[in-house]
Parts: sequence; C-alpha cells; structure tokens
Amino acid sequence: MVCAHPSGPSRRQVLTWAGAGAAALTLAACSGEEDAPPPEPGERLVSLDEVPVGESVSVRTSEGAEVVVTRVSEEEVVALSAVCTHQGCTVVREAEDLSCPCHGSRFAVADGAVLQGPAEEPLPRVEVRVESGAVVTV
Ligand code: FES
Repeated sequence: MVCAHPSGPSRRQVLTWAGAGAAALTLAACSGEEDAPPPEPGERLVSLDEVPVGESVSVRTSEGAEVVVTRVSEEEVVALSAVCTHQGCTVVREAEDLSCPCHGSRFAVADGAVLQGPAEEPLPRVEVRVESGAVVTV
C-alpha cells in the first residue's frame, strides 16, 4: 500500500458528502497523524452552517489532528477522530457510515462504533459543543 498524506497548506480540509457517490472525493490516504495531539479546548473546528443536518465534514485541527464533524440533528453535532483505529488511514463519510478506504473498516457516524472490521476499536470521540454558531472543542 502506498500512503500519501493529504497535503495542502490550508488548515482545514472540508469534505462534504451528498450520498454514496461522493465517496470518490475521498482523501484515501494514510493519515500519518497518529501522533497528532488531541485538539486544545476552545478550538473552533467549523461553522455550524457549513455542516448541513445529516452530513459530515472533515477538518484538521491546528495541531494536525483529523476530525470528522457530523451534524446529527439541527442542534446536535458529533466529532470523531478521523484516524482509523486499524492502521491509521483517514476515514471518510460514505453513505450513512464512516468508511476506511485502506481495508474497509466502517464506523457509525453517531458514536464511532465499529460496524465492520478489521478495525476492532471505535473511533475516539472529540468532545465539542456549539458556541456562537461554531463547533468548538471542549
Ligand atoms: S487502516 Fe482502516 S481498515 Fe485498515
């Protein structure tokens, strides 16, 4: 497997999805972010209006951690590490799940639970709250 880290100078990479076909937009790459520290409390990840209800966006924290933010309802968001717990590739939203392009693990968007291996551990949750119209770490 060839791993290529998603590059680019932007602090944030945003992937939106609008259905199963959007998985082609994947950043199918090993993250190389296993050592990225968790986000500091109070870091603004994304504006709430950039995350339509039912959809997910992928963001990169100022420390380089990759996080998937899902708006599960009008008022509720869930943030999960986007680093696959199997071997560290970056998961992407695909249909109703988060999917790892490397070996096919699938995770629940609502809580990171493993839906399909080979990953055995859930995606770690990143604690966030909505503050002044933005998703902010706590
Ligand atoms: S790295 Fe994700 S399934 Fe292997």
